[in-house]
Amino acid sequence: MHPSQFVTAELDGLTPGRALDLAAGEGRNSVWLAEHGWAVTAVDFSRVGLAKGRNLAAARGVPDGRVEWVVADLADYIPARDTFDLVLIAYLQVGAGLRARVLSASAAALAPGGTLLLVGHDLANLTEGTGGPRYPEVLYTPEAVTAELGGLRILRAERVRRTVPRPDGPAPAIDTLVRAERPAGDPDQPGA
Ligand SMILES: C[S@@+](CC[C@H](N)C(=O)[O-])C[C@H]1O[C@@H](n2cnc3c(N)ncnc32)[C@H](O)[C@@H]1O
Repeated sequence: MHPSQFVTAELDGLTPGRALDLAAGEGRNSVWLAEHGWAVTAVDFSRVGLAKGRNLAAARGVPDGRVEWVVADLADYIPARDTFDLVLIAYLQVGAGLRARVLSASAAALAPGGTLLLVGHDLANLTEGTGGPRYPEVLYTPEAVTAELGGLRILRAERVRRTVPRPDGPAPAIDTLVRAERPAGDPDQPGA
């Protein structure tokens, strides 16, 4: 299983440290991060998904313990504050309330200088793209995401396209991509 093309493009070359992968699913991004030297905490409420992730890690030869697999509902999960050099949120499509909670907790979990990367199905995908959820309330816009990330420096906030295979040929899908960082030496904790 391949990692997200946006995860690899954005994060390849970033100095590894501690990473938090929220809604890690079947672990494709967590395993890729672990292969690139990160110590990963992978969180999802799907026990089945994380079991597949654990199997993927083993099949790829990722050392035991390099990924900590945590079964938890993001509605309740509170990550350690000021801790992670990277927080990744990929294709977590939930309503505005939970999204705001997760973004606030993610910002608070970043260590000074840490990176937050969010990628997910964009609202424009409903009308201009293919695949993905059909409910507007669970779709992202760059503006809605950045509005929840006060205290972080926004490095990228835009719509990006990827090509997905369809029976009648490749078709475009439109995602929101936001990359932000907690300023190094920032004494004020974001998301407090
Ligand atoms: C489309 S998958 C994306 C998985 C992974 N990030 C990836 O890019 O392959 C969405 C994931 O969000 C998880 N999820 C949705 N709501 C959640 C919640 N409230 N708490 C924890 N995980 C949740 C689902 O279990 C699922 O694994």
